[in-house]
Amino acid sequence: MKRRNFLGCLLRAGAFLPFSFFNNGKADAAGAPATQVPLSQLTAPWSVAEFEFTKRIKTHRGLQPSTFPGYIIRLPDDVGRQIGLKQNFYAISRICPHEGCPIKFYHQRSEVPRLLEMGDFPNPLLVCTCHQSVFDPAQGGKVLDGPAPRPPWTFDFVIEKGRIIIKDLEPGGEKWG
Ligand code: FES
Repeated sequence: MKRRNFLGCLLRAGAFLPFSFFNNGKADAAGAPATQVPLSQLTAPWSVAEFEFTKRIKTHRGLQPSTFPGYIIRLPDDVGRQIGLKQNFYAISRICPHEGCPIKFYHQRSEVPRLLEMGDFPNPLLVCTCHQSVFDPAQGGKVLDGPAPRPPWTFDFVIEKGRIIIKDLEPGGEKWG
């Protein structure tokens, strides 16, 4: 899916929050505004915040900035410890590794027929809006169903002064940028 189509899908799905919402206007080394998510948005287990991260990527016109949408999910303490998360936060790309469609986070299985078909799961899941790949955040994004070849790409981040600061995207995550 082309980038323009991806953003169109996000807008139609109502899954897009303004970049400036999570942004304090400071610039990172690449000249892009730093992406910061207040911890106050993520106080409860399974709370989730959307963000966008801008990174320069190689294109046929040289290095160009590209913006990648992401989720930060706060996992319950026991789950986060089990899979080795930094302070129980799981930061992932909202771009599906299959063909680049938007991934959405669902608290309730009842919101998605595909999840109802799959039976019981103890926690919220991520589902691709195109071919319905299902990812489990409690297992490091493991693909539970569908054609996705791998879990969603992750973001590196630090936690400072009550904020999560996104630092980089996992190599390969710019594939659909
Ligand atoms: S693009 Fe996500 S499953 Fe195909």
